[in-house]
Parts: sequence; structure tokens; C-alpha cells
Amino acid sequence: MVRITWSLAVAAIAASLPTTVAAQDTEVEPHPAAEYRQSLMQGLRAHTGALRGLLGGDVAYEGHVLHHAEAVQGIATMALNAFPEATGGEGSRAMDAIWENWNDFLTKARALKEGADALAAAAGSGDMAAVDEAMSAVGGSCRGCHTDYRAPAN
Ligand code: HEC
Repeated sequence: MVRITWSLAVAAIAASLPTTVAAQDTEVEPHPAAEYRQSLMQGLRAHTGALRGLLGGDVAYEGHVLHHAEAVQGIATMALNAFPEATGGEGSRAMDAIWENWNDFLTKARALKEGADALAAAAGSGDMAAVDEAMSAVGGSCRGCHTDYRAPAN
């Protein structure tokens, strides 16, 4: 009985080895600059998601609103120069259209920054209705850019 169990375990390990090697072979490494901006984008998602939770009243950490808003503002500032040319390609969803329509892309990145500035100002004033309104504008700027310049997820 013990011997059978062992041979099954060995067979299972042997069977899993080629799969692991194949997965490593096909894994795509994005350009370091693409990986970096993906982290920035994840930060935007995390902080706007947390703000929505606070606005929805799911949790009541009033003192956190300004911190999240300022984090969005900081990331929006960094996003303005997180798209150096030729950093799309494999492992990135940044479309070539970004660099082909650079001025339009920049306008969309600035729209996020302006929305984030308004969000931080609203959060600073403590007016939650104004924060809510600013969040809608920020959300619109995310969609406005993704529609034209972010390729669909695989
Ligand atoms: C000016 C354009 C632009 C704006 C504005 C923008 N994004 Fe993005 N976003 C992109 C592009 C381009 C990518 C793909 C980046 C890549 O893969 O290289 C992306 C990717 C992402 C991703 C996926 C990151 C990953 O891990 O692959 C998330 C999440 C995201 N954005 C959230 C947001 C949120 C939330 C906002 C608004 C608060 C926002 N983005 C605003 C252009 C933008």
C-alpha cells in the first residue's frame, strides 16, 4: 500500500515537471517601464477603489479620504511621464496608438491629472458631495484613455 502511494506521488511529480518548464518558456517579460507603469495603474485602481468604499459608506474612515485622494493625485502626476516611446509590445497593453497620437494621449493624461487635483482639493475641504463629483470626473478620465489607448486584456 505504501509502495503504491509512493509510486503514484513520483509519477505525479514527473508529470508536472514538463508543464512547469513549458509555462516558464512562454512567460512574457514586459519592458521594465511597462511593468513600472502597470504598478502605477494598479495604484490608481487600489486608491480609487478604496475611495469608492469610503464614499459608499461601507467603511467609515473619514481621515483616510484625503490620503487616498492625494495618492491618486501623486500617481496622476507620475503617469504624465510613465510612457516613454517603444515600451509597449509583449506583456504590455499600451497600444502603439499612444505614440502615434502623442498630443491626444497627453491631453487624456492631463485630464486625469486635473481630475485628481480637483479630487484632492475636494477631499481637503471635507465636502463629500464634492469628492463624489470629482471621483466621477476621475473615473471618466480613466475610461476616456483606456478606450483609445489600452488594448483588451488577454
Ligand atoms: C492617459 C491614459 C490613461 C489614463 C488616464 C488611465 N490609464 Fe490605466 N492604463 C493606461 C494604459 C495605456 C494601460 C496599459 C499599460 C501597459 O500595460 O503598459 C493602463 C493599464 C491600467 C490597468 C492595468 C494594469 C496592469 O496591471 O496591467 C489598470 C488597473 C488601470 N490602468 C487603471 C486605471 C485607473 C483606475 C485610472 C483612473 C484613475 C487609469 N487607469 C487612468 C492608460 C491610462
